[in-house]
Amino acid sequence: MSSSRDQLPLLASCFLFALAIQAMLPTSSASLQVGFYGCKCPKVEEIVRNVVYKAVAKNPREGAGLIRLFFHDCFVRGCDASVLLDPTRSNPTTEKTFPPNNSLEGFDVIDEAKAAVEHHCPGVVSCADIIAFAARDSAKFLGNISYAIPSGRRDGRVSTAAEALQSLPPPFFNLTQLKANFASKGLSVDDLVTLSGAHSVGDSHCSSFSSRLSPQDPSMNPSFAALLRRKCPSTASSSPHVDQDIVTPNKLDNQYYKNVKAHKVLFTSDQTLLSSPQTAALVTSYATNPIAWEAKFGAAMVKLGYVGVLTGNQGEVRKTCRVVN
Ligand code: HEM
Repeated sequence: MSSSRDQLPLLASCFLFALAIQAMLPTSSASLQVGFYGCKCPKVEEIVRNVVYKAVAKNPREGAGLIRLFFHDCFVRGCDASVLLDPTRSNPTTEKTFPPNNSLEGFDVIDEAKAAVEHHCPGVVSCADIIAFAARDSAKFLGNISYAIPSGRRDGRVSTAAEALQSLPPPFFNLTQLKANFASKGLSVDDLVTLSGAHSVGDSHCSSFSSRLSPQDPSMNPSFAALLRRKCPSTASSSPHVDQDIVTPNKLDNQYYKNVKAHKVLFTSDQTLLSSPQTAALVTSYATNPIAWEAKFGAAMVKLGYVGVLTGNQGEVRKTCRVVN
């Protein structure tokens, strides 16, 4: 075991390195840093990646769930892991209890990653950063999309279903509503189109789009609508699931944009991307240029990861992701 005196040079170089990185960053993004845990928990990203890859290899749905979890975390009170808090007697309606969040997945993977990280570096790594790492690792596993994710987020102590209702866009939103919703989080129209490509993985409950089936939404391809009606019988006792992308369901790729152009997407919020010249042009460019979309997707996920973050002494680092300390 090394003595604390042996570790002094390492700590000093960590400190100097952190200062140098900080000085190189533009002020606006200085609050988060790539490699934030370099000194305090150098293996954190590797630990999270191992847990995520194991889970997603077993079930690709987990990867889609983790990407959506990151989006739903960041859009409600910022990326502060408020989405992970379980309801309690004093707060029975956390974000998790907002009905559209019933279909969120990936909580167990986050719990497992947090437990593994706590074992190595107790009390150091926030749950908010673990979600951001896990979404990044899922994008790598499902789409071979790589990006470095700045970290240093802190965990929030507040979580309410009312705020989730106010902040999360429903699938029936049109382009005007989506633009306003993304703008309220500091995200652009470009970010909206780019991030919507996440709907190339994972699935949806029929109930999220059944209003487009009868009467049939004229903006939906008729044979696709017929297929969905077969998969979503109105007689089903529970709401079945269907793949969001029927061509490459487990691959995070630009097939989504080809589906939008073919009018074979589940939600109004997907199809509406063709309704303005600006968004339609982006859809076409991503449909034909996968490399451009992949690069933009990584950059937009990084940008999403800055929404409303707590840093420094704000918030806390939870011991268990489901409970405020
Ligand atoms: C633009 C507005 C958006 C709307 C209206 C929307 C809506 C939805 C809905 C209704 C579902 C299906 C839920 C269910 O019934 O099970 C879903 C799934 C999903 N969404 Fe979105 N979403 C949006 C943007 C995003 C963004 C920005 C991301 C990530 C960057 C994302 C990632 C996902 C993923 C990966 C799934 C599949 C989840 C799974 O299989 O567990 N969505 N979304």
